[in-house]
Amino acid sequence: MKKHTILILGLPILGLLAYGAFALARTSDPVVLPPAPSAPSASAPVPGHTTPTASVTPTVTAVTPPPIPPATPTPTPTPKPTVRTFTKAELAQHASASSCYTTIEGNVYDVTSYIPLHPGGAAAIQMICGADGSVLFMGQHGGDPKPERTLESRKIGVMVSE
Ligand code: HEM
Repeated sequence: MKKHTILILGLPILGLLAYGAFALARTSDPVVLPPAPSAPSASAPVPGHTTPTASVTPTVTAVTPPPIPPATPTPTPTPKPTVRTFTKAELAQHASASSCYTTIEGNVYDVTSYIPLHPGGAAAIQMICGADGSVLFMGQHGGDPKPERTLESRKIGVMVSE
């Protein structure tokens, strides 16, 4: 082979080798990347967006109902009858037309206001003021509804033994 021929064949090979070396040098250069944009912080407000507020998870507390006490019947207070009681002596203190109490069948009546109204006369009533009028009243009016009602509306108490 002649020198001339070697030169013609060797030149392209040298060129290829030189290019390869150049390319290799380039790829080994440190690549400086631009700084990555920092991610927006969670607290920074983004225009056009509402900042989500922290959701509050409701705390469900199990409430144990208080024990129901057994139903105790409330005793209804029985109103005590305020019955006035009279003795014979107390009754005797009302033996006039100005204060006429009489007792008929154990009950005591104030018939003072009825004296001037009695259809059978005031005297018939005054006979029983301050005393037991059972015999006279029952003898005259026993079983008659009207005298009975007239008496009932004037009841003030009951007789008691000393
Ligand atoms: C506090 C007791 C008495 C009462 C509340 C009383 C009430 C009355 C009443 C309501 C009448 C009318 C009856 C009627 O319209 O149907 C009457 C009539 C009469 N009462 Fe009396 N009375 C009493 C005591 C007496 C007594 C003690 C006597 C005699 C002892 C007497 C003799 C008469 C007589 C004669 C009449 C008229 C006749 C008659 O409608 O029956 N009452 N009385």
